[in-house]
Amino acid sequence: MAWTPESWRDKPAKHIPADYPDPAAVKSVESELAGYPPLVFAGEVRTLRGSLAEVARGNAFLLQGGDCAESFKEFHPNNIRDTFRVLLQMAVALTFGAATPVIKVGRIAGQFAKPRSAPIETKDGITLPSYRGDNINGMEFEKGVRIPDPQRLLKAYGQAAATLNLIRAFANGGYADLRNVHRWNLEFVQGNKQEDRYRALADRISEAMSFMEACGVDGSEVRAVREVDFYTSHEALLLGYEEAMTRVDSTTGAWYDTSAHMVWIGDRTRQLDGAHVEFCRGIENPIGMKCGPSLDADELLRLIDTIDPKNEAGRIVLIARFGAENAAKGLPPLVRRIQAEGRNVVWSCDPMHGNTIKTDGGFKTRRFDAVLAEVGTFFDVCRAEGAYPGGVHFEMTGQNVTECLGGSQEISEADLSSRYHTHCDPRLNASQALELAFILADRFKETR
Ligand code: PEP
Ligand code: CO
Repeated sequence: MAWTPESWRDKPAKHIPADYPDPAAVKSVESELAGYPPLVFAGEVRTLRGSLAEVARGNAFLLQGGDCAESFKEFHPNNIRDTFRVLLQMAVALTFGAATPVIKVGRIAGQFAKPRSAPIETKDGITLPSYRGDNINGMEFEKGVRIPDPQRLLKAYGQAAATLNLIRAFANGGYADLRNVHRWNLEFVQGNKQEDRYRALADRISEAMSFMEACGVDGSEVRAVREVDFYTSHEALLLGYEEAMTRVDSTTGAWYDTSAHMVWIGDRTRQLDGAHVEFCRGIENPIGMKCGPSLDADELLRLIDTIDPKNEAGRIVLIARFGAENAAKGLPPLVRRIQAEGRNVVWSCDPMHGNTIKTDGGFKTRRFDAVLAEVGTFFDVCRAEGAYPGGVHFEMTGQNVTECLGGSQEISEADLSSRYHTHCDPRLNASQALELAFILADRFKETR
């Protein structure tokens, strides 16, 4: 079957809202978006694919993280800066600690649409459509707000563009210069164990920089010191939007989804004959695929045949999300099969989505210990099967939230209500995210 940017429309599509009151208005917004500038450039996507190919070969590590769901309400330059700098801190902890290049990919600048476990929500006897992400409807439990509104797509595009613009400025305009490594520390991490560890790391990096400068290397002339490559990603859930952002690259004649450098297919939308797999198979962007307990090895192979028929390293990132309890049993058959078939994939671990629990107080949360346990099992399984543990995928924020339990700040169930701000899933806060990076770096060093 021939692929076109709209060929997904003939396939069954899960989790795409079908209840827009005015379908003509959706069409009109989509055609407007199709005329908007691309957010990313095909050449950047090719560079990322090249870097991911290095990950597939075992020569680099993928760090992918950010919000579960970006929101219009939390859209603020300080939030973008804080998320960006925690990712930078995590990346230096890993680069230095594990002595490996780290490919940095944010769940940012377009991560809005969410698959939901239930299409409706009932509160005090009133039933309304579930919240599906700010680019579809609003979170407030009010009838008018929960009706999907296509105008939200234009607002989401604008927010993604402005977010990416600021990220590009930070990445290339001096903020991410390694000689600023001390300045990336976050105020509220002060006095905490992560801060001491980070300061010690930053001291060593600064010392190495001074040594280099004394040897005659001018840091301002070395791009790798002065700037950082930072990529964007989100779940390719709302295919009408992704289709509108998909353009032919004039230099190669191939199709690129210009809404982000990388997109992924969620655990609930990876049906072989479904719309999401159909759409993703035709774009050149690297494709992530969430692999959860319901996926068996035969089906995974057929999915890879569909998305990556030429077995190209850097095309596919398999993101295991089994949960700490299920990973030791569920993951080995998949890794073993992929190894046996000689598929050039990146294996990454999402230790968040299989570890979501609900407290008696009604908060959706995750235990930091469970997150660590799943990452640990992921490393063990990859090692035992002769595969390379290539990356991690997690939900975090640069803010000082109390959404996940534990970590060195020992966030307890009673603490959750104090700063619980997420629009969807609980995120690691800055301190927990940095702690995870230090533990990962240690673990990675051992594995090598
Ligand atoms: C997500 O990454 O936000 C998500 C919904 O994950 P999954 O598809 O793995 O459940
Ligand atoms: Co999530």
